[in-house]
Amino acid sequence: MYINGKHVESIGGGWFPVYDPSTEEIIAEVPDSREADVDRAAKAARTAFDSGEWPATTAQQRGRLLFKLADRIRNEAGKLAELEARNCGKPIVEAEMDIADTATCFEYYGGLATKVLGHVNPVPDNALSLSLREPVGVAGQIIPWNYPLLMSAWKLAPALAAGCTCILKPAEQTPLTALEMTERLDEIGFPPGVVNVISGFGESAGAPLVRHPDVDKIAFTGSAAVGKIILRNAAESIKRVTLELGGKSPNIFFSDADFEAAIDGALFGVFINQGEVCSAGSRILVERPIYRKFVEALAEKAKTIKLGAPLDRETKMGPLVSKEQYERVREYQEIGKREAKLLAGGGRASSFSKGYYVEPTIFADVDNGTRIAREEVFGPVAAVIPFDGEADAVRIANDSPYGLAAAVWSRDIFRALRVVKSVRAGIVWVNHMQPTYVEAPWGGYKQSGFGRELGPWGIEEYLETKQVYINLNEQPIAWY
Ligand code: NAI
Ligand code: MG
Repeated sequence: MYINGKHVESIGGGWFPVYDPSTEEIIAEVPDSREADVDRAAKAARTAFDSGEWPATTAQQRGRLLFKLADRIRNEAGKLAELEARNCGKPIVEAEMDIADTATCFEYYGGLATKVLGHVNPVPDNALSLSLREPVGVAGQIIPWNYPLLMSAWKLAPALAAGCTCILKPAEQTPLTALEMTERLDEIGFPPGVVNVISGFGESAGAPLVRHPDVDKIAFTGSAAVGKIILRNAAESIKRVTLELGGKSPNIFFSDADFEAAIDGALFGVFINQGEVCSAGSRILVERPIYRKFVEALAEKAKTIKLGAPLDRETKMGPLVSKEQYERVREYQEIGKREAKLLAGGGRASSFSKGYYVEPTIFADVDNGTRIAREEVFGPVAAVIPFDGEADAVRIANDSPYGLAAAVWSRDIFRALRVVKSVRAGIVWVNHMQPTYVEAPWGGYKQSGFGRELGPWGIEEYLETKQVYINLNEQPIAWY
């Protein structure tokens, strides 16, 4: 792993295996960082923030470092995409898109570094009142396994642009691309301790990071269950926290939607990246008049989705990331069979003798109160729910503990916009689902978390605001 500008082993000397989920074979071993390693990384990040070159760097210099990193990632995109696909099982074509987005994210925040502005506050006195923006300090960043390098960029890029120092903990399933990226940081010119990447497990490396007194802020993407633990552990030292916790996002189809586009949009919304997507459109809400025709077409097309090896360019769906996730998704397939009507899939993809492959699975006639309509599956499992008219659609859409994303499909712009305004979600698409841009805010309502990533919102989460009062009176206080 990478601490204080050096590649190091864990202090305890432990290692753990990393798998290719399509073959179930070990492809690497990485250091198993524990509390002592977290402490070492936190001290390095603290020192780099408090002294040395980093606090003296200008926004222009930080921007240029991020541009250089973006260039390196773009130049080595093929290699990184292949490593990403092998480690998390996603189709190579999707991994290539992720790596391109990773470079774009570093570039975006490289540009934004020089656009962080303060204010002059119009106070009613003979004084100059300013608001300065300053980095929040040492950022601990804990990320999941579904978009490993891209999530690293969503975390590191705005933090570094703001002038923070970072300790990134990739998910234990998928540490390889983030570790690979560290090979370039020294050469690019990041001072030691500014970026630290530690490989390790949630409880033994993530939790100590959240509790560490030298860490000022925690940014987390992952499960709601862990989000709650992080909030509790962060309370002790009053850390700033941002959470992106996934969801159970409704993808809403009205009768007047373009039918062919709708079927593709429903499948893409829930099955892209094997359904291992925080914003997956896992509740497909369909208006009653087109409901029967819709579910039949959906099931028919779902059966044609090409499952295959991650590195095969024809593959549209790879294996799930891990044995644990495979078992969790298999369990939800069984729960769904008890709760609703199985339309497609429902089991292991039987043509593979190895690998964590499951069939794209669709349940119809789902009641919104059931577990497959309320709990995040994080795999290719869709729950189709009928509705009667606009008010019913909005009611069902909002009847969820989550509020990350939603989509609405209709050719009636007035209706689409009414639904956009009524749905309680941080991201709402109209006549599409999933396009994501570094320029636009990302984050959830309700139990999907708080704080926003990407765009100017993303850098805000790494900035403090300092009020400065400059007295312009020569004799200010005539009180006593
Ligand atoms: P998780 O939430 O346990 O893991 C995400 C990250 O948090 C990993 O880096 C992990 O090491 C870390 N972590 C785990 N426990 C921690 C703790 N006590 N303190 C600090 N960090 C900790 O997710 P997991 O177990 O891989 O997946 C379980 C479910 O979580 C999935 O089925 C899915 O529903 C949801 N999930 C949601 C994601 C999202 O993007 N919103 C991403 C990954 C999972
Ligand atoms: Mg977990």
